Amino acid sequence: MQLVLSLGMVPLANAFLSSPDELEERFPLELVFCPECSLVQITETVSPGVLFSQYNYFSSVSKTMLAHAQDLVGKLIEGQHLNKESHVIELGSNDGYLLRHFQQAGIPNVLGIDPAQNVAEVARASGIPTLCEFFGEALTEKIEPADVVIALNVLGHVPDLTGFVRGICKILKPDGVAIIEVPYARDMVDLCELDTIYHEHHSYFSLTSLVNLFRWNKLQVQRVERIDIHGGSLRLWVGHPRENYSRPTLKILKREMVLGIDRIEYYRHFASRVQELGYSLKHLLRGFKAQGKQIIAYGAAAKGTMLLNYLGVGTETIDYVVDATPSKIGKYVPGVRVPIVSPDQIGNPDFILLTAWNFSDEIIQKHPGFKGRWIIPIPRPRFG
Ligand code: TMP
Repeated sequence: MQLVLSLGMVPLANAFLSSPDELEERFPLELVFCPECSLVQITETVSPGVLFSQYNYFSSVSKTMLAHAQDLVGKLIEGQHLNKESHVIELGSNDGYLLRHFQQAGIPNVLGIDPAQNVAEVARASGIPTLCEFFGEALTEKIEPADVVIALNVLGHVPDLTGFVRGICKILKPDGVAIIEVPYARDMVDLCELDTIYHEHHSYFSLTSLVNLFRWNKLQVQRVERIDIHGGSLRLWVGHPRENYSRPTLKILKREMVLGIDRIEYYRHFASRVQELGYSLKHLLRGFKAQGKQIIAYGAAAKGTMLLNYLGVGTETIDYVVDATPSKIGKYVPGVRVPIVSPDQIGNPDFILLTAWNFSDEIIQKHPGFKGRWIIPIPRPRFG
């Protein structure tokens, strides 16, 4: 393993505090690269029970996510010729925001699997059968094989990648398809998304690393598409091995080779851009503050926690963070202890740092009356 970036001792990104005096736990955060399989990972494995048994993230808060789910479900029903007999499983099914669309389209046989009790309960209450467990090879005996297995933005969260992928191999019918979406390491690098690096995210994938991962576990990437979600992701169609790699897959793999994504230098260059971004953003915010301007942030996302902690800016610079998630309102961002308030308390600040930059359009549209300026932090600070 080769070191890419060390972010020091950092609190857990979603461990919001109930009071500003509460002491948060900190864990080392180091990004490393494996020259054998091209995978980028963090070195510290915080217990999945600690990270995921209760989850603050409700996918339904975001219209972008709801539209994304609806669009994918429509494509799958048509493309895979699904009917009322089909069986669909979602891994990391959250509050059921995606499986609901299958049910509404007359495909009742759906199963969600999610380890977070609070979100699983919401899903069950809305009629989505949900197993509240961590998915892996060990769980597969309890599960009927599926025509479609979906795992959106889940693979990167899984410490035992091999067990997870072998589990998919076991629950996928011979002609079934697994739809896997992961944030794309190339977009993280291009857009300088330093704030997507945190303890929940174990792995950062290039297509090269994914092709290796699935091949080594008897599956095959059959199709691939770049999509915008979560700051730039890959959507993969994975199945039991049958044919050669598709043209788009080969094209992206070739491009990755040209970029040197299978070499440490690619990621070291990213690390130096991360540093530059940190300096310039901090300089900008401190400058406005020195002029007596009021600055707040929007989006108590995990990304927000990471960005504010990386910059080392707290309430001396940012008065509060706005977020629509009911379970976050009234809490404090770990590490920097900035309070979280609801969108109706947005007030009239001079600047809003868009920490949830992945939802910029949706958020900016929600606040047409805001008279100040939005600051979008990445890939380099700019006004929205
Ligand atoms: P994420 O980047 O991890 O998906 O988190 C986005 C955060 O932004 C999440 O805490 C919800 C919040 N949010 C709002 O407060 N208002 C919005 O309109 C949207 C889209 C997100």
